[in-house]
Amino acid sequence: MNDYRGKRVILTGGLGFIGSNLAIRLVEAGAGVTIIDSSVPGCGANLFNIAPIASAINVIDSCIGDVERFTSALKDADAVFNLAGEISHSRSMEDPERDLYLNTVTQLRFLLACRANCPGARILYASTRQIYGKPVYLPVDEKHPVQPIDFNGVHKCAATQYHLLLARRGDLDCRVLRLSNVYGPRMALHLPQQGFLGVYIARALTGEPILVYGGGEQLRDPVHVDDVVEAFLRAGLAPDMEPRVFNVGGPHPLTLSEIAAAAARQSGRSPIHHLPFPESLTRMDIGSYVTDLTRMQRELAWAPGIEFEDGLRSTLAYYRGNSDRYLGFTKHPERPAAVRLEYPASTQ
Ligand SMILES: NC(=O)c1ccc[n+]([C@@H]2O[C@H](COP(=O)([O-])OP(=O)(O)OC[C@H]3O[C@@H](n4cnc5c(N)ncnc54)[C@H](O)[C@@H]3O)[C@@H](O)[C@H]2O)c1
Repeated sequence: MNDYRGKRVILTGGLGFIGSNLAIRLVEAGAGVTIIDSSVPGCGANLFNIAPIASAINVIDSCIGDVERFTSALKDADAVFNLAGEISHSRSMEDPERDLYLNTVTQLRFLLACRANCPGARILYASTRQIYGKPVYLPVDEKHPVQPIDFNGVHKCAATQYHLLLARRGDLDCRVLRLSNVYGPRMALHLPQQGFLGVYIARALTGEPILVYGGGEQLRDPVHVDDVVEAFLRAGLAPDMEPRVFNVGGPHPLTLSEIAAAAARQSGRSPIHHLPFPESLTRMDIGSYVTDLTRMQRELAWAPGIEFEDGLRSTLAYYRGNSDRYLGFTKHPERPAAVRLEYPASTQ
């Protein structure tokens, strides 16, 4: 990763889970890192995430849509890791316009600012497996039909297409990584809407029961954040080439029951409770998902190296050492009040 030494890197969403882990690796590699993050309420921003590198980076407290606040920083950029976004599927169904604003309107403004100010920079966008919806075959490769089942998937799909459109036109050099379920240090464990892995980890820490809905036989392929960071770093360095879209997932499929059992085992305290599948979740259920890693392996020589049991062990150790920074609301999860952002007139 010496190729990042001296590079000027913009990292959107860098106060959140994946972004902060990426920021730490980039600083270790010798890059000059500028984070743009507005600490959106309900997302995973946490200043403690970047504590190890706080004195080595520049943080701009701005929405990525407020482009006039960081134009000069963009002018110097060699690479842009674009991770800002809302990840909650359920919240996107409760407040679709909020998700639209965070995942499309601001993304479009940001990309147009990149085109104007750093057209030569490599842009890496964090997309999601969610855009594939309920898989029609496994493992899911990049040619799988795109048929999202929630607004978050639709909006992440639109933002993906903005990146690919500007790349096809020759305006920007974009790459897109579609991530499976990511876990590891620096997740927002107090936000249950961010996904079941964070909830399982939080409960394993507190000793509360780990809940499995239905038979728990759906497959997932959890991928450790260190592997995801490595995938981003490689995609940032790869020579100019097609294809531009890559699926990123974990080393092995596991059933939800197996994931819950691993969390309970490593907790040593949490029992597993089996509950009927809640009616409210059935329309959000994608069944099983497993990533086809062929393209990542072939084009970027990347494969996930961290087995789930090992990754979970080190993840729990991180949170045990910093529980006051991540577990504040776990016992009585509070749903943050719906955020009312100021929408531009054209989207109201
Ligand atoms: N965590 C996963 O399992 C997962 C899976 C698939 C895709 N992704 C994608 O990876 C990216 C990072 O996810 P994460 O898990 O780190 O989420 P996170 O919530 O921990 O971090 C997202 C960060 O983006 C910031 N942000 C959001 N909208 C912004 C805006 N308009 N302007 C400035 N800052 C903004 C938030 O304040 C937060 O710090 C997201 O784009 C997400 O869709 C994550």
